[in-house]
Amino acid sequence: MNNWQVGGFGLYVHWPFCEAKCPYCDFNSHVVGRIDQTRWKNAYLKEIKRVARELPDRVLGSIFFGGGTPSLMAPDTVSSIIEAARGAWTCANDLEITLEANPGSVEAGRFAAYRAGGVTRVSLGVQALNDEDLRRLGRLHNAQEARDALDIAQKTFERVSFDLIYARQDQNADAWSQELSDALSIGVDHLSLYQLTIEQGTAFGDRYNRGKLRGLPDEDLSADLYDITQELCTSAGLLRYEVSNHARPGSESRHNLVYWRYGDYAGIGPGAHGRLTLASSRFATETPLAPGAWLHRAENGNGEDPRRLLTPQDQAGEYLLMGLRTVEGIDMDRYQSMSGRQLDSESVQHLVDLDLVRKHDQRLFARPKGFSVLNQVVTELLPSY
Ligand SMILES: C[S@@+](CC[C@H](N)C(=O)[O-])C[C@H]1O[C@@H](n2cnc3c(N)ncnc32)[C@H](O)[C@@H]1O
Ligand code: SF4
Repeated sequence: MNNWQVGGFGLYVHWPFCEAKCPYCDFNSHVVGRIDQTRWKNAYLKEIKRVARELPDRVLGSIFFGGGTPSLMAPDTVSSIIEAARGAWTCANDLEITLEANPGSVEAGRFAAYRAGGVTRVSLGVQALNDEDLRRLGRLHNAQEARDALDIAQKTFERVSFDLIYARQDQNADAWSQELSDALSIGVDHLSLYQLTIEQGTAFGDRYNRGKLRGLPDEDLSADLYDITQELCTSAGLLRYEVSNHARPGSESRHNLVYWRYGDYAGIGPGAHGRLTLASSRFATETPLAPGAWLHRAENGNGEDPRRLLTPQDQAGEYLLMGLRTVEGIDMDRYQSMSGRQLDSESVQHLVDLDLVRKHDQRLFARPKGFSVLNQVVTELLPSY
């Protein structure tokens, strides 16, 4: 079996526009006055044809509209892309099609049309369930709008996920327990719970550097918040399957599993990444970040930057980084077949002794303690080749 087949094949579509830029966010998102939806639609359709010419025989398991704010896409743009992808590849019977949405009322008003166009799952960027924190996070919606959007989403789609950001300014353990219990009582099948990361180059990053972003949790409180997250989600039956992702068993995001299982995915749109196996060589693909530059290139026949060939070591390193994020961990035989070398047994044993990883048959998993220090775990394993 080809290596990518273990992880499957998905299509990622990046929509780079948002209504406003959130102060913490370093995703490739831009605020513009007017978007020519027809022009953008045609560029995506052209890109799907180009990628499908190179990869004609794949079975498509998932499509993910990410952003930016894909719920600013006209429903016709979304349905045309889905139709083109369905026409380009053989699709899995249970093809998962996710769209990231913001909780504004305009967006929620489009849910029915997205569903009619083929979307099977939405992931809502709720971020917080109280107005004060939403304001501090620079969000345009309030808590009631988030609840209303979730309600409409649950009535429209069988599968609904939402994102919360925790470890926010002045958030203590009690407040997070309350908020997360509240979130869990909404009854979705999937939650993405991210600790606030201060990214350089964002408004929060600048404020932090000037000492003006006060009230962030220290390491101990962050660890407590993380533990509370695991406890509450586990008791509610939403099991962690990746560092920040929790799902009812069977409701995991199939698309994200393609990344973490190190499968192949085509990435189209500004700043989209991809991993493609062609004639037994594996490539990393990238596209221009600037929306105008990408549009121009896609219209001229190829939206990609030159591809980078991944060496066996690159691939093995990426597999380790991705795979250890999940509770299923990595297959050490697959690692060896990619890199041509085994993982260094002394490093593995050292991490086992520290209770950061566990070995079972040919698999290596992060232990609960290991998830909190995953970068250290990977660094310890990486220099070994
Ligand atoms: C690309 S955003 C897409 C969702 C949508 N645009 C929205 O914001 O509602 C994906 C998610 O990443 C999370 N995120 C973005 N920046 C973050 C940061 N600095 N720290 C923690 N989580 C972050 C947010 O929860 C966000 O919903
Ligand atoms: S968090 Fe979402 S809405 Fe905010 S700027 Fe980033 S992508 Fe846009």
